[in-house]
Amino acid sequence: MSLSQASISSSSSAFFAQSSFNFKSRTSRARSVSVPAKTIGVCKCVAAPQAEKTEYKTQVNRNANMGKLQAGYLFPEIARRRNAHLQKYPDAKIIPLGIGDTTEPIPEYIASAMAKRALAMSTLEGYSGYGPEQGEKPLRVAIAKTFYENLGIEEDDIFVSDGAKCDISRLQVLFGEDKTIAVQDPSYPAYVDSSVIMGQTGQYQKSVEKFAKIEYMRCTPDNGFFPDLSSTSRTDIIFFCSPNNPTGSAATREQLTQLVKFAKDNGSIIVYDSAYAMYMSDDNPRSIFEIPGAKDVAIETSSFSKYAGFTGVRLGWTVVPKQLHYSDGFPVTKDFNRIVCTCFNGASTIAQAGGLACLEPEGLKAMQGVINFYKENTDIIMETFNSLGFKVYGGTNAPYVWVHFPGQSSWDVFAEILEKTHVVTTPGSGFGPGGEGFIRVSAFGHRDNVVEACSRFKQLYK
Ligand SMILES: Cc1ncc(COP(=O)(O)O)c(C=O)c1O
Repeated sequence: MSLSQASISSSSSAFFAQSSFNFKSRTSRARSVSVPAKTIGVCKCVAAPQAEKTEYKTQVNRNANMGKLQAGYLFPEIARRRNAHLQKYPDAKIIPLGIGDTTEPIPEYIASAMAKRALAMSTLEGYSGYGPEQGEKPLRVAIAKTFYENLGIEEDDIFVSDGAKCDISRLQVLFGEDKTIAVQDPSYPAYVDSSVIMGQTGQYQKSVEKFAKIEYMRCTPDNGFFPDLSSTSRTDIIFFCSPNNPTGSAATREQLTQLVKFAKDNGSIIVYDSAYAMYMSDDNPRSIFEIPGAKDVAIETSSFSKYAGFTGVRLGWTVVPKQLHYSDGFPVTKDFNRIVCTCFNGASTIAQAGGLACLEPEGLKAMQGVINFYKENTDIIMETFNSLGFKVYGGTNAPYVWVHFPGQSSWDVFAEILEKTHVVTTPGSGFGPGGEGFIRVSAFGHRDNVVEACSRFKQLYK
């Protein structure tokens, strides 16, 4: 079959299995594109839950807050769509640039440290059981020294964990259901969803695509992706992520100084997510604690996931400074310690050996190598969309490129790109109503996949 014969409308579900297939665009931007249909690698997908037929029902009521959540967490929903796409095109070479999972191997120096600790567990001398819930002291010391030197953060302010996402939920348990929260809009979905699950919100309001009682701080190109704090209502907790997922933007020192002042004026607590701080190229703060006074109002959570390929290993940390107090003067860190001791039994000792290796000189060099690799991917993606005339944001300080499709629905753009190029992206609206009209393209991918995806984008939008 010739390529021209294989040309089909994008609304058609026809599939040309063996060789390649073409699409004609519905939109003005997208063009006909030819994509090789070849299978490589394994596509891991989260299966959509099967509706189970059951005769028996317990007498336990469903947590009503769970019922408020919308149509599945964003990334399982994307995985479901990818799965459906793969069923439709079983031979397609799908390129995942959506979920933001790392793809490159853990540097050998770091993996060896974990292997060594794992093997030591098979000996009497090397075996260890439960460790301290807060994390092993050498790792806490190394985190304080590497990321917070001269910032007044000490080893006992740091709680080592199994990842930033888990800590976000543990922080919500700490705060309790009567708190109000603010989030950047768009933002990483775990802040909103954990808030809903805790019962901090009202129902989802379809007309505005927001949950009642959450303060959505709009972050768009118009305000340089930093919220207008003069029109932001007071909340107890302010989740703030910089460099931001998904927009890739990083707040400047002046902006973070404003944020800390805003929190102080309102007696709020900032939960600052710095999971991408090491991706920063510009001279912006890497930590909220670089801002004077932040220790009175802020908690910081971070992670080895995107620095060393630890998304599967699981290792992160949260800083709760001893200077942070509740309205009655009680130290927040004492309650967080209690939560950690109750809800968590400490990060894996093997993962902690890896974390410690990450922060040794050779490990730091290796981590920087991994980050630089993804930053080169980011450059390739940015260059591609820039050359096609799109307005492109992010990228410089984060492994995410935020591409604007003005006037279009994010899910439509996501679906069109998947259908026509077999590349999985993430629809911006999945991160909040402020993400509508954007897609996020992740730089986490093998180089040849990123290059191939970009060449398909070029064919689609040239
Ligand atoms: C902003 C942000 N915070 C936290 C996480 C989760 O990190 P972890 O793997 O440590 O749970 C992610 C993962 O994508 C993220 O983007």
